[in-house]
Amino acid sequence: MKVLVTGGLGYIGSHTVVELLEDNYEVVVVDNLSNSSIDVYDKIKTITGKDFVFYEEDVCNEDKLDEIFAKEKVDSVIHFAGYKAVGESCEKPLMYYENNLMSTISLVKCMQRHGVKSIVFSSSATVYGSPEKLPIEEDFPLSTTNPYGTTKLFIEHILTDVCNADNTFSAIMLRYFNPIGAHKSGLIGENPKGIPNNLMPYIVRVADKQLKELSVFGNDYDTHDGTGVRDYIHVVDLAKGHLKAIEKAAKSSGAKFYNLGTGTGYSVLDLVETFKKVNNVDVPYKIVGRRPGDIAACYADPKLALEELGWKAELGIEEMCRDSYNYILKQKEK
Ligand code: WQD
Repeated sequence: MKVLVTGGLGYIGSHTVVELLEDNYEVVVVDNLSNSSIDVYDKIKTITGKDFVFYEEDVCNEDKLDEIFAKEKVDSVIHFAGYKAVGESCEKPLMYYENNLMSTISLVKCMQRHGVKSIVFSSSATVYGSPEKLPIEEDFPLSTTNPYGTTKLFIEHILTDVCNADNTFSAIMLRYFNPIGAHKSGLIGENPKGIPNNLMPYIVRVADKQLKELSVFGNDYDTHDGTGVRDYIHVVDLAKGHLKAIEKAAKSSGAKFYNLGTGTGYSVLDLVETFKKVNNVDVPYKIVGRRPGDIAACYADPKLALEELGWKAELGIEEMCRDSYNYILKQKEK
């Protein structure tokens, strides 16, 4: 089976391409390298010992994308490509709506012209907004508080409407909780450009003495230790969830939604203390004010993914912390 992966050299995309290749899929990656680098291409080949096709293209370029569909004759699509920084989306909403929505529309139009009927979409738990209760189930109310999250919600609607218009089309929307960690080889992982917005990449750089200390955004939330609670999921578990979704999409039709989380919430300080323990390293921090827009707690009920995809997360918070740090250490060995 041949899968086209948009954004396949990015953080989650590259880990998914590794799992696809190791499961004997043929892979075609389309990535414009706006948030990834070409060396990930070689690293994926080193990890798997397998080759795959790569096009440095923008998914918004419908004509170029159509040529790729005509040439490669893929069976299904996994769509990761899109801008994903919450803060940036608040500063540049039109850039986010144009890029994330137009890339999806151009992609689905190409799929329809070339008879490709199944897509797995990289959605996000951010579509749940601030949940009324926990754990979060897929039929909970949806609301978003920033343009990035709204693009994810709009794309869910777009793909649902395409399925309603064409009952042979299959769209599986995977709502990620908080992906962290890295492949055990340390060759691929998360290394955002500039100062990290997210918790784990920040912790890693403090541990590596690239940054002085971590600012903990608030310790007055209604949680066990006052700091924010999230459902951290190992990126390799997340990647494996996409293979289960591809299999499901090929055998079904219509729009389906699944939480990809562990079902367990950890606080900021839980993560910091675990990271220090498993890596035997210090992570200096200070408590500061809350970050605007943050919610107190968010974690998944992952039972539907187990029942319908046969998937559940296997790796724990200690592996997530160990693999995240191992990646940065391996990058320094280069
Ligand atoms: C986690 C916790 C912070 C940084 C975001 C997006 C979401 C998804 C994942 C793309 C919170 C605290 C963080 C720091 C801190 N992205 N924190 N100091 O906000 O849950 O989710 O990333 O899909 O859409 O919203 O993740 O890692 O930024 O924050 O104290 O320097 O860590 O307050 O409690 P978040 P995060």
